Amino acid sequence: MKRIALSIFSFLLFLLQIQPTKSYKYNSIFSFGDSYTDTGNLNVYVLSKNLSISVNTDKYPYGQTFFHHPADRFSDGRLILDFLAEEFGLPFVEPYLAKKGCFRQGANFAVAGATALDPTVLKQISLAKPAIITSLNTSLNFQLKWFKELKPSLCHETKECRKYFDSSFFVVGEIGLNDYNNMFINGLNVKQVHHYVPKVVDTIANAIKGLIYEGAKTLLVPGNVPMGCLPTLLTSESDEQSFYDHRTGCIRRFNMLSRYHNYLLLNAIKELRVKYPHAKIIYADYYKPLINFVRFPKRYGFTSTPLRVCCGKGGKYNWNTSELCGMPNVSACHDPSTYIFWDGVHLTEAAYHYIFNSWLKGPYAQPPIQDARLQ
Ligand SMILES: *[C@@H]1O[C@H](CO)[C@@H](O)[C@H](O)[C@H]1NC(C)=O
Ligand SMILES: *[C@@H]1O[C@H](CO)[C@@H](O)[C@H](O)[C@H]1NC(C)=O
Ligand SMILES: *[C@@H]1O[C@H](CO)[C@@H](O)[C@H](O)[C@H]1NC(C)=O
Ligand SMILES: *[C@@H]1O[C@H](CO)[C@@H](O)[C@H](O)[C@H]1NC(C)=O
Repeated sequence: MKRIALSIFSFLLFLLQIQPTKSYKYNSIFSFGDSYTDTGNLNVYVLSKNLSISVNTDKYPYGQTFFHHPADRFSDGRLILDFLAEEFGLPFVEPYLAKKGCFRQGANFAVAGATALDPTVLKQISLAKPAIITSLNTSLNFQLKWFKELKPSLCHETKECRKYFDSSFFVVGEIGLNDYNNMFINGLNVKQVHHYVPKVVDTIANAIKGLIYEGAKTLLVPGNVPMGCLPTLLTSESDEQSFYDHRTGCIRRFNMLSRYHNYLLLNAIKELRVKYPHAKIIYADYYKPLINFVRFPKRYGFTSTPLRVCCGKGGKYNWNTSELCGMPNVSACHDPSTYIFWDGVHLTEAAYHYIFNSWLKGPYAQPPIQDARLQ
């Protein structure tokens, strides 16, 4: 009798072990970046500094699809970071600057508008007309500084910290888009901007090094989106046909810049993998899935005109800088899930969800997130 009980017990143990649970052993997520990842930092930052910048993500119809209220995210619903948290069984990653809670399960340092390069460096590059963005101290180095500031509240001794960060998941990016955009706004042409891409990528690589030094072991590093497909840049462009890629309708020279950024970033990651073999560094591609959406929209359920934004007003791309999503009388489309772009720069939840899955299971992450899972 005892023996039977014992073998039933072992059988149960066996069942427990082979159960196909999604057993990610991540205890926390720490994220860095810009508006593709921000879950509320910019709103807090702007309030705390009393800046005269209007951030529309606290207004309808932002957030309408998933949260059913504005959720300080640049989308109609969840961002890739939110899907990641859900997949890992963790709460949505709280914006660090809101200083709510203890952040044991993670903190989000990403701020909409953030650049990789420091504001002082950007000012040197485009002295003529410094954009407001260059006065915000939210660049990657500041985000790293905030992380170091938070760290003592997460763990103390080296051994304890190692154990804690061994099962933390780090997201570094997207970042860089605002650096380039800021340079364009300040009148630099694409050729001049190309010159600064290595500097931007170096800054990102240094941030990754810094995080590994602090204990990061698993890092996801998204590249740049195809900038030439962004409705904001498309709207500012002239009608010169030779500028456009006829397969996508996107502007070729801006997309070349994004590809150059991604090429250098992937090379930097390859070097870092050699230098830090104990770390898992995943490269995540925003470029290819977005190009596929634009080329073959119906395959992904994007039945609306690909480069037109869901929430906006007027113009060829339904985007106008003086009538932005979140402003009075600017409304969203009937069904955001049929659109790729939510506003002039950001994607719909549907598009983010598809990209997230392609990073989780492949093919657009190297290696896919699920293959980097902790044992
Ligand atoms: C915030 O800025 C506005 C003008 O931009 C000013 O009138 C107001 O007094 C400022 N508030 C604080 C608390 O500094
Ligand atoms: C950013 O930092 C610089 C130098 O420390 C400072 O002069 C500036 O006022 C800061 N900007 C903001 C918006 O806090
Ligand atoms: C953008 O909106 C402004 C203000 O409503 C309007 O004057 C302008 O003509 C619009 N531009 C385009 C391209 O629709
Ligand atoms: C919004 O539309 C209404 C009705 O067309 C109009 O009365 C109002 O002035 C508009 N508001 C703005 C801010 O354009």
